[in-house]
Amino acid sequence: MTTASDYVESLLASYPDFPQPGILFRDLNPVFADAAAFRSIVDEIIDHYRGQFDAVAGIEARGFLLAAALGYAADVPVLAVRKGGKLPGTVLTEEYDLEYGSARLELEVGQLPAGSRVLVLDDVLATGGTVAATNRLVERAGYRLAGVAVVVELSDLQGREHIGDAPIHAILSL
Ligand code: PRP
Repeated sequence: MTTASDYVESLLASYPDFPQPGILFRDLNPVFADAAAFRSIVDEIIDHYRGQFDAVAGIEARGFLLAAALGYAADVPVLAVRKGGKLPGTVLTEEYDLEYGSARLELEVGQLPAGSRVLVLDDVLATGGTVAATNRLVERAGYRLAGVAVVVELSDLQGREHIGDAPIHAILSL
């Protein structure tokens, strides 16, 4: 049987020096464009965290794809964690460093009952700055962090060390 990890390993594309010299960009679009691969990823994440989450939070931009699919498949609410300046109303903001540059992430408050267990989703864990900022937003919003799931973890960048004690599941570690 082809596992989610097999699919990702075979379909992942890598682009040296994008978007800046020295960066090896991992492109997961070919993985999302393969229906069986995408389904296997969603199913594996749901199996891994079964019974442990009440909602999912997708990180802009590719985390949205995962969050939408998981929200539908697991029948749970979906939160969108957006880049700075995109959300109206009362928002929480966290600054974070990227592998290249720095940025802000934001979350609207009051979307879920206090104490909801939120599973954070993104495509790639690199330095961990993005997920760490999202985890802080989830906790500041009054929710509990159920865990983190990513499709690819770039283990050389030691992102896990920047996200504290949160459980993390990576479909494929490189
Ligand atoms: C990429 C990727 C993760 C993040 C990982 O997104 O999709 O969200 O970087 O990096 P880190 O672990 O070093 O923080 P990017 O910021 O390029 O934004 P995009 O998804 O909007 O293109």
